[in-house]
Amino acid sequence: MTTRLQPDAAPASLPAPGRDPEVILDVRDLRTYFHVMDGTVRAVDGVDFRIKRGGRLALVGESGCGKSVTALSIMRLIDQPPGEIASGEIWFDGRDLLSLSESEMRQVRGGEIAMIFQEPMTSLNPVLSVGDQIMEAVKLHQEVSAKEARDIATQALRDVGVPAPERRITQYPHELSGGMRQRVMIAMALSCRPKLLIADEPTTALDVTIQRQILELIKVIQERTGTALLLITHDLGVVAETVDEVVVMYAGKIMETGTVDQVLLEPRHPYSRGLLQSIPSRGRRGQPLHVIKGVVPNPFRMPAGCKFEPRCPYRWDQCKAEEPRLYDTGGGRSSRCWLYDPRFRDRMRRYELEGKDYVPPAAATELTA
Ligand SMILES: Nc1ncnc2c1ncn2[C@@H]1O[C@H](COP(=O)(O)OP(=O)(O)O)[C@@H](O)[C@H]1O
Ligand SMILES: [Mg+2]
Repeated sequence: MTTRLQPDAAPASLPAPGRDPEVILDVRDLRTYFHVMDGTVRAVDGVDFRIKRGGRLALVGESGCGKSVTALSIMRLIDQPPGEIASGEIWFDGRDLLSLSESEMRQVRGGEIAMIFQEPMTSLNPVLSVGDQIMEAVKLHQEVSAKEARDIATQALRDVGVPAPERRITQYPHELSGGMRQRVMIAMALSCRPKLLIADEPTTALDVTIQRQILELIKVIQERTGTALLLITHDLGVVAETVDEVVVMYAGKIMETGTVDQVLLEPRHPYSRGLLQSIPSRGRRGQPLHVIKGVVPNPFRMPAGCKFEPRCPYRWDQCKAEEPRLYDTGGGRSSRCWLYDPRFRDRMRRYELEGKDYVPPAAATELTA
């Protein structure tokens, strides 16, 4: 048997990219590789997703699965070399970003698409006051006077709940707490009224209470301004109240897509189930957390079949032999798992009858015997 090399066929109902005015971002078959000494890392390997204008989508998966590389590819911030956007299209507001010149792209970055990162300290300039930094960002994309830029910056800080913004504007990043710095980053990102906000692990460095506040803030502002949101996180626990749609990634590929309710309440892919079981929940308080056994595969020694197979409690020989495509599993959702192939319906039924919500690896081997 051979490994599939062709991209997944797009569903027939999908309009040509860039033609649907309702869609702000349309990523098609994106492949971003890094050519390093030991070989090629297929960091993003055929990723497709769409975000509607004003829509909210989360890209979820363990560390190293290609989430940040997807975001940096959209922003065209991949260093080439060693990186290479080997194929794909990234349609944003009717244009393919991959066909823009670097100067056109500079207008998109920070203007039409804004991005906030995990650790605001590394993206804020330590020698400029936060006010100067927001004003600089504003002046880069809008024709305004110094006075107007200052007013916009003050208002932006007020909008993100920074107290006494007239005073804060003169402070330097090190004078602010982590939560306040992240608020400044959000203010800066939103001061140019972007059509899309990419937030890459925006709350990972913060404590749980501040995390909640920042996510709530992102959501409130997103709803008020109508900016679309691409939220990137390794924590499925934070997506429920923040987004409408979820894309689960593993080893550079999409494993499952669906609405937030579909994926959180009724995950289809064994990987999504594993991710969900590793979230602390009220109902399971006091019980040990289930963590997905094993580690993400070495990029130079990827499994030939399903990339999740070595860790999958449901695996059987088919999974080792061949990589599954992304199956349409109904209700607008999809799952990259052989269990959804009509040929393996019997196995699926057997798992269901046995009420196997989670089959431990040993049992999975038994089932295949
Ligand atoms: N500049 C680079 N050079 C080589 N490999 C890279 C580079 N940037 C990212 N990668 C690799 O790409 C993969 C995906 O990384 P990343 O998108 O950062 O993961 P995450 O999902 O945690 O954001 C990882 O295997 C990472 O090591
Ligand atoms: Mg990342």
